[in-house]
Amino acid sequence: MTAYLNGQFLPLDEARISPLDRGFLFADGAYEVVPVYQRRPFLVEAHLQRLQRTLDGIGLPNPHTFAVWRELLQRVLADSAFDDQALYLQVTRGADSKREHAFPSAVAPTVFICSHALVSPSAAQRELGVAALSVADSRWLHCDLKTVALLANVLLRQQAVAVGCAEAIMLRDGLLTEGASSNVFLVSDGVLLTPPADQRILAGISRQLVLELADRNGVPCEIRDVSEAEMRSADELWLTSSTREVLPVSTLDGQAVGSGVPGPLGRQMAAWYRAYREQATRRVDV
Ligand code: PDD
Repeated sequence: MTAYLNGQFLPLDEARISPLDRGFLFADGAYEVVPVYQRRPFLVEAHLQRLQRTLDGIGLPNPHTFAVWRELLQRVLADSAFDDQALYLQVTRGADSKREHAFPSAVAPTVFICSHALVSPSAAQRELGVAALSVADSRWLHCDLKTVALLANVLLRQQAVAVGCAEAIMLRDGLLTEGASSNVFLVSDGVLLTPPADQRILAGISRQLVLELADRNGVPCEIRDVSEAEMRSADELWLTSSTREVLPVSTLDGQAVGSGVPGPLGRQMAAWYRAYREQATRRVDV
């Protein structure tokens, strides 16, 4: 499996970084996960734009132009054994010669890219929905930045997995925020609801696509704060992410969501999403 590290393409298991890398010491870095279907990256421009926003947000100059990023990503995905992939890129503030919190001067960033087989939800999960656990959002207040500081997300996801759930859904001050690695939508009386993309959540690329598909298809939609009570009485609850697309939640804390089976709008949205994605990543036969 080919990876890219700081100017070199090499087998992933030969890639090495310094223990003084600020990604390792301070989680001082940004990342993106770009889904690839039929060897075509999906919505890559939007991912590169969000990477730019994260880098701007943490004061780290982007080491590459979008054109160079595209080339590097293309090379790594082309070398993969899989047609459908989760392409991962990470930029950190690099490795200084000492451990010091403040930004080092004149240190080159670390740039890393690798790709794995895309692990999508199973047919049964799509059909029947998944279990979710509600948890208190214990993260910092820059959840809009896609940084590698993911320990809170990791611990909350693990808490969910330990009780047989597929995702942890977070609440802050009595309001829904998002999943440990997904955004959350709910349907209430035929209206699609999702929290605003402020500093409390990551502005998901799939969240944005779902909002566009809702708009295009005339689905009434409100982007506003969602209370815990609204979430618990929702007719439908969905997770969205680049790897899960639109995935229904059938139980929350062991209680049925709506009727306990995925609802009609979620099914419809998943179909619209898939049709859009298939159109965008269609292999052109030559
Ligand atoms: N996570 N919220 C959080 C906290 C996330 O980590 C993610 C994605 C999302 C959804 O964003 P998008 O639709 O752009 O994938 C929302 C990726 C997939 C990950 O960390 O693996």
